[in-house]
Order: sequence, then C-alpha cells, then structure tokens
Amino acid sequence: MGKRINVALLGLGTVGSGVYKVMKNQLPEMPHKLNAELVITKILVRHPERYQESVEDPSVLTTDFQEILEDPSISIVVEVIGGIEPACTYIMQALKAGKNVVTANKDLMAVKGGELLELADENGRELRFEASVAGGIPIISPLKDSLAANEITEIIGIVNGTTNFILSKMTDEGVDYKPALAEATDLGYAEADPTADVEGYDAGRKLAIMASIAFHSRVTFDDVYTEGITGITAKDIAYAKTLGWVIKLLAVARNTGDGIEARVHPMLIPQQHPLSTVAGSYNAVFVHGDAVGDVMFYGRGAGEMPTASAVMGDVFSVARHTVYETKGSTKDNVYRKIPIKTIDEIRSRYFLRMEVEDKPGVLATIASIFGNNSVSIEQVIQKSKVGDDAELVIITSKVRERHIKDALLILGSASVVRRVATMIRVY
Ligand SMILES: NC(=O)c1ccc[n+]([C@@H]2O[C@H](COP(=O)([O-])OP(=O)(O)OC[C@H]3O[C@@H](n4cnc5c(N)ncnc54)[C@H](OP(=O)(O)O)[C@@H]3O)[C@@H](O)[C@H]2O)c1
Repeated sequence: MGKRINVALLGLGTVGSGVYKVMKNQLPEMPHKLNAELVITKILVRHPERYQESVEDPSVLTTDFQEILEDPSISIVVEVIGGIEPACTYIMQALKAGKNVVTANKDLMAVKGGELLELADENGRELRFEASVAGGIPIISPLKDSLAANEITEIIGIVNGTTNFILSKMTDEGVDYKPALAEATDLGYAEADPTADVEGYDAGRKLAIMASIAFHSRVTFDDVYTEGITGITAKDIAYAKTLGWVIKLLAVARNTGDGIEARVHPMLIPQQHPLSTVAGSYNAVFVHGDAVGDVMFYGRGAGEMPTASAVMGDVFSVARHTVYETKGSTKDNVYRKIPIKTIDEIRSRYFLRMEVEDKPGVLATIASIFGNNSVSIEQVIQKSKVGDDAELVIITSKVRERHIKDALLILGSASVVRRVATMIRVY
C-alpha cells in the first residue's frame, strides 16, 4: 500500500452518496491505479441525523467546516453541496489552506470559475470541475487536454436531461408541454421548481463553462442568451416531424471570427443529425475543431453514479499528482478577449407558425413585409384551417435575427395576421 490521502466530502446528497459508493467500490483497485489509498475522513452536512445509516462510520459526519479546514491531514476537498454560498467561500478557504478541490458546481463555475481557478493557481493547488458539465460525460478534460491542439469553432450540446426528456416525450407521444412536465416531475427528472431547467438557465451555465475553455476567452452565464421550452407546443413538434426535423433545446457556442455566439434555445435539427437521436435523459456534446473535425460525446448527463464517475475521475487525477509530486495545471487558459455577440447579431433560418386571415393575397402581403425587411422565404409549408382563419408555416432563408424581429413587429400590426404563434430557429 502506497500513500494514504485523506479526503473531505462537502455534501452527501445525490452526488455525494454516489462519490461515497464509488470510493468504496474502488478501494481494492486504488493501490494499482493510484499507488495510494483514498480515505474519506470527514463529511460536511447540515442535518447529520439524516445520514446515520448512509455511512459506515457516522463519526465522520460534521456540521462544522472549520474542522475540515483546520485538519492538515485532509488534502482533497470534494464540494457537492451546490449553489453559490457557502460553497464559494468553502472552496476559496480550502484552496488558501493548501487543499486541492474537486467540484460538481456549475452554478458557481459559470459565474466565478475564472476567479476560483486563478486563486487555485496562486496557491499552487488544483481546482477540477469535470462533473459541472454534462454529469458523467467527459467533456472538460477532452476540451482542455485531448483537443488542446485544435482551434475549436463550435460546441453544440444537449446538456439538460429534464428538457430533453420533456421534448422527447412530446415528440414520441404527441402530448403537450404541461403533461410531459408533469411526468418528468413524477419520475424525478424535474425538480419541484423546474425553472432553471425549462428556461434554459442550467444549460446556459454549462455552455459558459465549456465556451471559456474552448475559445480561450471568458464567457460567463450573463453572456449567454437563454430561451426555454415552455412555449413549444405539440403542434410545432408535429409540423417539425412532417418536415423531417426534431425540436431540441440546444446550447450553441460558436467562435465566428468576429465574435462569440453563446445561446441556449429550442432549435429544429434534421432527423439525420447525430444530436437528433439523443433522447430522454441522455446528453450529448458535439464539438468542431480545425484538426479533429467533428467529435461527439454522449452519455448520462446527471444522476448519482454517472456524476460520481466524473467527480471521482478528478479525485483520482489529483491523487496521482499528489503521489508523484507533479502539479496538474487546471488553469482554463483564458488568454484572449473576444467580444460576445448579442442574439440580434446572429444569423439563422427561422420556422414561423402564424394564424392569418383566410383570403386571397394574404401570402403576397406577408412576403412583401418580409422582403422589405431583408428576409426571404425559403418554404411555405402548410396552409390549414383554424376556425375561420388559416395557419401558415414559413421557413425563412438565413437572415440576421434583427431583421426577423423587425419583420415580425410589422407583421404583428398587419390586419391580415391574427398572430405569430411560434418562432423557432432552424439548424
Ligand atoms: N444531481 C445531479 O445529477 C447532478 C449532476 C451534475 C452536477 N450536480 C451538482 O452537484 C452538486 C450537488 O447536487 P446534489 O444533487 O447532490 O444535491 P443534493 O442532493 O441537494 O445534496 C446536497 C447535499 O449538500 C448538503 N448541504 C447543502 N447545503 C449545505 C450547507 N450549507 N452546509 C453543509 N451541507 C450542505 C446537504 O445536506 P443536508 O441534507 O444536511 O442539508 C446534502 O447532503 C450541485 O452543485 C449540482 O449542481 C448534480
């Protein structure tokens, strides 16, 4: 048996208990894989009474972070509490006290990642966060290491299992958003307050973390445009299906040469695209690099054991560096300052569903409004009756978002248009 490395766990919820289990399962392998033995000597929780049965030795449970901070035998702190505070303070204090930190905290890394990584570097310690993006899928290490010699120009991800489950359900069973959300909640895929998932905030946080690493330029959550799935209807999905498309909530980051696009919104993608088959609670991240071309990472984006797999991969890395007395750099290598584009500056095709007066000449009026705003129509898909009105589905050619918005403003006040029901970007 080699060196003994003591670990403190902050939090013993879903991810924390997974980490505890993987740590136990891997114990016999550690001498071979690490030339060391990892031992959890302290676990921080707020309610130790809840966890008496969850651990072999309840005396490791504590409610006092100082006990961990002041214990010089602990060299790795695993933060799986979540949220900004007190997690941020605990991580900062641990780094300053000379401990290495592994975290799964996307909320924190998406807003304070740069600051925390700098602090780790100043203190000669490691801060690793593989589990903060897409749970069990390795993506941070590939972006930092395996793909480091690429100029990465695009990341497109399905990085939120809850919304992917809801949209898959709507697509497969033709149900509307509300019953699909209710089922996601019943099955434990959606939280009691699903806002962060369904409004795209969770995906936006993960995108900010990935984009900063991939483009070597700081992108924070505030820079990411987010639009959720609450406005998507079974009707839109049905139209998309007949056209050979599926609707997914995509996190898109592009380095376009004149700025970075960072956005999360529903999107129509062709059924042949590899991301279209990523269903249910699965996640995937598609990356384009100049040397490698296209690569896709696929797997479980959340859950006890998949997330613990990512956390423990980081813990093992830190342990190896400790054993072999090497310093693993965890800097995110931000050395550029690329401007972030607003959503109005992006160029896309658009799917528009609108209810219009059912009389001759309406299409010509709409086409002329689009034309006057530099928008050309690529396809008019349907014209079906809705009461006395007609429903039109239009696909535009690629156009700047600002122009589409201008056109929609004028359409909104045109007497022949009852309402523009949906606008979804097309891949
Ligand atoms: N769940 C997933 O699938 C998943 C996937 C990827 C990343 N993550 C990230 O992993 C982190 C943990 O998520 P989770 O789902 O495991 O959370 P969770 O199930 O809610 O567990 C949180 C744990 O932290 C403890 N805790 C909370 N606040 C604390 C405080 N102020 N002081 C001490 N202990 C505190 C709780 O203890 P008490 O019960 O005593 O309050 C509980 O044991 C989050 O950052 C999350 O975003 C989760």
